[in-house]
Order: sequence, then structure tokens, then C-alpha cells
Amino acid sequence: MKIVSTVEEVRAQVKAWKKEGCTVGFVPTMGYLHEGHASLMDAAGENDKVVVSIFVNPMQFGPNEDLASYPRDLDHDAKVCEEHGVDLIFHPTPEEMYGDNFYSYVDMNTLTQELCGLSRPVHFRGVCTVVCKLFNIVTPDNAYFGQKDAQQLAIIKRMVKDLNMPLTVHGCPIVREADGLAKSSRNTYLSPEERKAALVLSRSIFLGKEMVEKGERDCKKVIDAMTEEIEKEPLAKIDYVKMVDLITMQQITTIEHGVLTAIAVYIGKTRLIDNFMIEE
Ligand code: PAF
Repeated sequence: MKIVSTVEEVRAQVKAWKKEGCTVGFVPTMGYLHEGHASLMDAAGENDKVVVSIFVNPMQFGPNEDLASYPRDLDHDAKVCEEHGVDLIFHPTPEEMYGDNFYSYVDMNTLTQELCGLSRPVHFRGVCTVVCKLFNIVTPDNAYFGQKDAQQLAIIKRMVKDLNMPLTVHGCPIVREADGLAKSSRNTYLSPEERKAALVLSRSIFLGKEMVEKGERDCKKVIDAMTEEIEKEPLAKIDYVKMVDLITMQQITTIEHGVLTAIAVYIGKTRLIDNFMIEE
């Protein structure tokens, strides 16, 4: 496994692979890798070669967010990648990615103005821009994203379709701790007491999912039940509990087609997300 930090090195390696007729799978990450990321690398193993990028992208953090404190551990990340058959890690600096002057952005209007886009206004512009750049650098045949970031996944699929990017985007299932908490690099911010309190997210997700699976079609009833569950936990503060159309990301009142039910909840200072999708 190679670790490189420049665009030129990635291009040279991928060019050599493509000359040999290899397919390339790509997993973009911000590092501090856990089993959720590992499951994406395993899925990418269906390609001949696997590239992982590790880059804490400053452009997707708002001014009061956790860019400086976002956890980083390249030695650990390299070990995880090695264990999961990764061939190349791209670990650029912000200067390598953005240089001194940077003027171009990928912005996606309505899809980014719901759910996390409301409380994190610059977030998806930063995500789309960096992912577009990474796709142009790595030129993968397939790219793999977790369904935990469901809105991100929907937006990236749309970007690839709208802008005719020549690759396929795959969504992979949420990976959970044994007690239900969705795996996230941000779980490391939680104190032991907060870690227990954080279970309220998966509890409310499982409750909502069960209601829908049993036939409830009224979004208000599902949202109210999930909200009530979260409000039982004193350390939890709701950012949103919403049901949106899987394609348009706009709120719905009745479940008719595919629906994404997504929540964002602060546990202390840590903002966590979780969701379930029903594809009908
Ligand atoms: O999901 C993430 O870790 C990031 O948003 C991504 C896709 C790597 C872009 O920085």
C-alpha cells in the first residue's frame, strides 16, 4: 500500500493501473477511520484497485464548527486501510487541494437547503466541491459512501448524474455499535455519560422505522413519536427530526414513495445524525 500526498502522484499511479486494464474503486474519507469506513473499503474491493482519500476538508466546516478539533490519526488510518486491502491512500494538505487562490465551487441549491443544510449552510457546497475535485483527481470507476450521511449520498448521486461524471456512486448500509449507536468519528467526543445518552438517536430511529414498517403513513405521527422519545433524554437537544422525499430532499406529510427519515441531535456539544430509508 502506498501513501501519497500530491495530485500528481495519484494521477501517475491511477494512469499506470488503467493502462493495465484495472478498475478503480474509491472511498473518500476525512480519516479517523472506523468499521463504517472499513465496510466501504470492503465494498470497494469489487474493483481491481482501491484508493482511499484522507482529507479533513476545511471548506465543509462552518466558522463555529469542529475543524480544529476534528480527530486525526494517520498511523491508525493507514493500519485500517492496509487490513482492508487498500492499494493507495491520498492524504493531501489543504494547500495541495486549494492552493492560494481558489474560485470554483459546486453548489446544489434546493437539495442542500433541507436537513443538515439548514443548520450547516456552507457544508454541502464544501462537500460537493471537494468530492468533485477528488473524482477528477482519482478518476474512479466506482465510489462508495455511507448511508449514514444520507443527504450527502443523495446530493453526490445527483451531482454525478447532473454533471455527467463517468463513475457509479454506491451507498453502503449504516454500521452500528452493538448497542445500536451509528458509528461516527464524532462519537469519540462523547463522555461516558453522553455515550449512554446518545443511544436515544438509534432508539428513536428504530421506533420510527417500526411504525412505518407496520403501515403508518402519516409523517406527523411518526415524527411526533420519535421526537417524544428523544425528549425523554435530558442531555439531548434536537436539531431536526424530519421526513423528506428520497430524491428531492423536500419535506413530505404522507409517505407515498421513497422516504428518508433523518435526525440530528446534540448530545452535549456533539451533533450526531442518524436515519432510516424506506424505498418504495
Ligand atoms: O463523509 C465524509 O467523510 C466527507 O463529507 C467526505 C465525503 C469525505 C468529503 O469531505
